[in-house]
Amino acid sequence: MPALKNCFNIADLRRRAKSKLPAPMFHYIDGGADDEWTLRRNTAAFDDYQLLPNYLQPIASIDLQTRLLGTTAELPFFLAPTGMSRLFHHHKELGACRAAHKFGTLYSLSTLSTTSIEEVAAATPGPKVFQIYILKDRELTREFVQRCKTTGYQALCLTVDTPLAGNRERDLVHGMTMPPKFTARNLVSYGSSFEWLFNLMRNPDFKLSNVTHRIDALGAGAMGLIDYVNSQFDRSVTWDDAAWLVQQWQGPFIIKGLQSVADVKRARDIGASAVMVSNHGGRQLEGTPAPVDCIPALRDAVGDDLELIVDGGIRRGTHIVKALALGASACSIGRPYLYGLAAAGQQGVEHALGLLKTEVERAMALLGVNRVGALGAEHIR
Ligand code: GLV
Repeated sequence: MPALKNCFNIADLRRRAKSKLPAPMFHYIDGGADDEWTLRRNTAAFDDYQLLPNYLQPIASIDLQTRLLGTTAELPFFLAPTGMSRLFHHHKELGACRAAHKFGTLYSLSTLSTTSIEEVAAATPGPKVFQIYILKDRELTREFVQRCKTTGYQALCLTVDTPLAGNRERDLVHGMTMPPKFTARNLVSYGSSFEWLFNLMRNPDFKLSNVTHRIDALGAGAMGLIDYVNSQFDRSVTWDDAAWLVQQWQGPFIIKGLQSVADVKRARDIGASAVMVSNHGGRQLEGTPAPVDCIPALRDAVGDDLELIVDGGIRRGTHIVKALALGASACSIGRPYLYGLAAAGQQGVEHALGLLKTEVERAMALLGVNRVGALGAEHIR
């Protein structure tokens, strides 16, 4: 396993995460739906684009500041919402949001987090996004909006590509459960993850902090957390419900999981301010296009009306630079920071952010561009 200081890229961090985590947890981060074609394609698609440098440009300093969601981030990328960070490290969401804050970028908290809206809000003053579902339990959705307003979240992010759970076969193979359960099949793997196991025994705080009170109130505790969550996905949610939520929030609003021109136009028409162009990291519908391939058509369709956040497959700074040159407003990253979290807690997330920041800066300097807003069609083919 590479020491953290010898992790020179996100792939190294992934290797370190793999050797630190029990198999069910590692494969929950790493895996995708069905045959994982979409998962692989998300990253491979970046290879279809080439960067075209202009030399002898003024690149003495590179400005990565990015206006996004009504605030200014110091990086053109931020942390995407991802569920259940406690499974990967006891620093959980708090470590990730503190790392984001150190780098001056946004942190997104998932509904299915193991730290509450309030705890994350109290952890750092930096801008935060809350990822929300319109659940069967609408009362809970309304409650989330109120809690996010009270605690000062910058933006709300409605995930729409999860009307039901994707088919993640690695989770079945490795016996992934929340909270973790030891079975004959995964016992050896748990048993050899000493540090993880030690922290599990010291602090077994495996709960879905934002929803636990509802699970208890509904008497659903016995069904298991993941079953409860799956039972809450609502196939009857439509654009009318999304429009209702935009009205409830009255602030920067992302719709996450869109890829078609028609959907992105609908998002604009109901008053969303941003779209996360995403296929949920290849974890939901297998066979969807790589988000990076969707950008030019979406940007053409909506012009400057919407911020387009590209999410999926990013493992290198050049991937971020390519997405920006194609018309993305910013990118978001999920697995890269989770590998860091699993590898070394908050320090590992900082390491992941530092690697990508350095790579973006270096790529922009070599491309002859000194600020994010100057990246454009002339730099890519
Ligand atoms: C949750 O959104 C997941 O993809 O596991």
